[in-house]
Amino acid sequence: MQPTVGFIGFGNMARAIAEGLTRAGFPKEKILASVRSERSRERLQREGFKVLPSEEVFEKSQILFLATKPKDLPAAVKPFKDHPQKGEKIFISVAAGVSLQKLKDLLGEDSKIVRTMPNVNVAVGKGVWGVAYSENLTPAERERVKELLGKTGLVVELDEGLMDAITALAGSAPAFIAEIVDAFAEAGVKLGFKYPEALKIALYTFMGTLQLMEESGDHPILLRDKVTSPAGTTIYGLSKLHSEGIKGKLIEVIEEAYKRARGLA
Ligand SMILES: NC(=O)c1ccc[n+]([C@@H]2O[C@H](COP(=O)([O-])OP(=O)(O)OC[C@H]3O[C@@H](n4cnc5c(N)ncnc54)[C@H](OP(=O)(O)O)[C@@H]3O)[C@@H](O)[C@H]2O)c1
Repeated sequence: MQPTVGFIGFGNMARAIAEGLTRAGFPKEKILASVRSERSRERLQREGFKVLPSEEVFEKSQILFLATKPKDLPAAVKPFKDHPQKGEKIFISVAAGVSLQKLKDLLGEDSKIVRTMPNVNVAVGKGVWGVAYSENLTPAERERVKELLGKTGLVVELDEGLMDAITALAGSAPAFIAEIVDAFAEAGVKLGFKYPEALKIALYTFMGTLQLMEESGDHPILLRDKVTSPAGTTIYGLSKLHSEGIKGKLIEVIEEAYKRARGLA
């Protein structure tokens, strides 16, 4: 039996999670949403989502995603703090930089809270979730949460101290990867392809490479060596990649995002 899942706030991230869940066979009618504006409510209803006032979403759901912007969270959850049904609910926050302690301050110390950091890839079932639980969730409740989130991707249970790291490494990373893929596509244009074709080639090359690495479980360097023949094209490209320090620069990109995440926490 699937739980009813409520979303307090239904913007980009909530939509990605809901898409991932329904794609995995989770019934759309078991997803409830609450938003702030009439405009968002009408749009979501046109798309076939059940949109209800926040308190109704709260009362009808066993699991509640808190998916407003962090600044809107205090007002959004205020009605729940002293609600008599609160003890029956599990709250899953996706708000970046909002600690378990802050969430407890907002919802009450006794609340069952899961702090997460998903990335947008949850929409296609290939997301990554960083997950930290408040200590009062039972093992069975943790399992329930893990099972639900696992429908949309990889669940990484971690100490809350690593949440900023996974924010950089997985939360922000789709933007970096999109830029890198675009660079490959632009290179294709420089070499004579039209952009859409170059993009498709780049996308397939990335997807295939990632699948090969995932399925083999090999260290990436092993794949690199398979493609690199003596005095061939690949070693010339690799040599440029190393002499320009591109690998080190990519590490710095993640570190910069991490520093920012720490600043927000
Ligand atoms: N985008 C990402 O890649 C990403 C990744 C990881 C985590 N996150 C986290 O996800 C959360 C949401 O981000 P987002 O990009 O999805 O934001 P968003 O598109 O702006 O959506 C925010 C939603 O919250 C609603 N809302 C605001 N106040 C409310 C209230 N009092 N009651 C009910 N609903 C309320 C808004 O309704 P209206 O539309 O009616 O104003 C809107 O539906 C943030 O905390 C962010 O840190 C985002």
